[in-house]
Amino acid sequence: MTLPPGPSAPAAFQTARLVARPVPFLESCRRRYGETFTAQVLRVGPMVFISDPASIKTLFGADRQNTIAPGRNVVLAPVLGRRSLLLLEGKEHLRRRKLMLPPFHGERMRAYEAVMAEATEREVASWPVGRAFPLHPSMQAITLEVILRAVFGVEDDERRALLRRNLVGILATTRSPRAIGMTIGRLRRLPVYRRVGEMLAEADEILLAEIAERRGDPRLASREDILSLLVGARFEDGSTMNDAELRDQLMTLLMAGHETTATGLAWAFDLLFRAPQKLQRLRAELAQGGHEYLDAAIEETLRVRPVVPFIGRQLRVPTELGAYELPEGTTVMPSIYLAHTRRDLYPDPQAFRPERFLDGGPDTYSWIPFGGGTRRCIGAAFAQLEMRVVMRTVLGRAELRPATNQAEPIVRRNVTLSPRNGTPAILVSRHPARRLAATV
Ligand code: HEM
Repeated sequence: MTLPPGPSAPAAFQTARLVARPVPFLESCRRRYGETFTAQVLRVGPMVFISDPASIKTLFGADRQNTIAPGRNVVLAPVLGRRSLLLLEGKEHLRRRKLMLPPFHGERMRAYEAVMAEATEREVASWPVGRAFPLHPSMQAITLEVILRAVFGVEDDERRALLRRNLVGILATTRSPRAIGMTIGRLRRLPVYRRVGEMLAEADEILLAEIAERRGDPRLASREDILSLLVGARFEDGSTMNDAELRDQLMTLLMAGHETTATGLAWAFDLLFRAPQKLQRLRAELAQGGHEYLDAAIEETLRVRPVVPFIGRQLRVPTELGAYELPEGTTVMPSIYLAHTRRDLYPDPQAFRPERFLDGGPDTYSWIPFGGGTRRCIGAAFAQLEMRVVMRTVLGRAELRPATNQAEPIVRRNVTLSPRNGTPAILVSRHPARRLAATV
């Protein structure tokens, strides 16, 4: 069995290109070798990239047999903990997933709308008028606040401030290239990593206190935050998650849900800044109380600027994908970026056109910003609602204009593709808070 063709450059060179500039690397491979190709990656070996909906469907359909690709979230593992949903495999993974999915069900998400709108209002109120500032950090502040309130359910202001301080420090380290040092035993003794260790210990202490209080809270059944729902959730045998595991899942929800959503939002504003007519259409729709075009703009943002460019699986059984019979053990990477920029599915694929998503949109395996199969993002409905509420609130409260006429270049940050300069914007004026006619 031969693997699909791919570059013959040394693995170190290919790895450097994939890590430093994933988009140009993936695009050049597609141009030279077609939609399915093999890259050689240090410490992993061959990685077969796919981007055709039929192969993606087959691969996601076999999630119960396959495992996640080696190296997934290696940088985050020390923060997530060993029981994290992101890292578990097989039966252990499915058991947790079953328990954690119901709190994220689409219908339930409305409970968090007010928290999302309030966090946005507060952030918008802090923006300077007439001076350039980057939107991305503001979006990070909003999504962090939403996690602290809606997911962790921390009500005490002082405790939330302390937790926020520690988490911001931890997140800053995981976002930077030096994060790799956290995974290397000897380096962990360096002051920078020791400090991360201290911040993690302090954050854990607060989370464990929250969990303990929740267990004894007579209001538990009526509370809406996700931690309360997880504390009350039972496995099939009637048992519940223990404290250490709940802590790992909270860290997982933070790590998986905070930066990703903030980055999606920063891209949405950047794309709208370069498309004034579409921004105008969006504003007009919001003024009328609708959100169809807004939802389409969010879907189109996640298509043309997928926050996560690829995901991975390791085959546990030989599998036919397209023209290839791939052996057991092969690492297969569905490339979200390449699937979303196929000319046959999306004519003029680099153009930002929310209209593509009006009237139905593409099929399930052509739009995969949240992955798929039994590992599909459990926060997809949460993230899409949050993007909707934040954008609606920002556009309703602020007259923003771009601070440059350059579209943001794409850079890789940890597992995400981010706007390089953080989407600089200028606040022209703030509108008084008004009750928007829309219900989202
Ligand atoms: C725009 C925002 C987001 C994007 C683009 C995104 C994307 C993804 C992707 C690509 C995966 C891997 C799927 C796979 O391997 O098939 C994933 C997994 C996951 N996401 Fe998200 N995500 C977002 C927001 C969130 C939010 C808000 C939460 C929770 C608060 C969340 C929680 C998770 C979890 C727990 C997993 C692991 C699922 C599993 O392995 O079973 N994500 N996400």
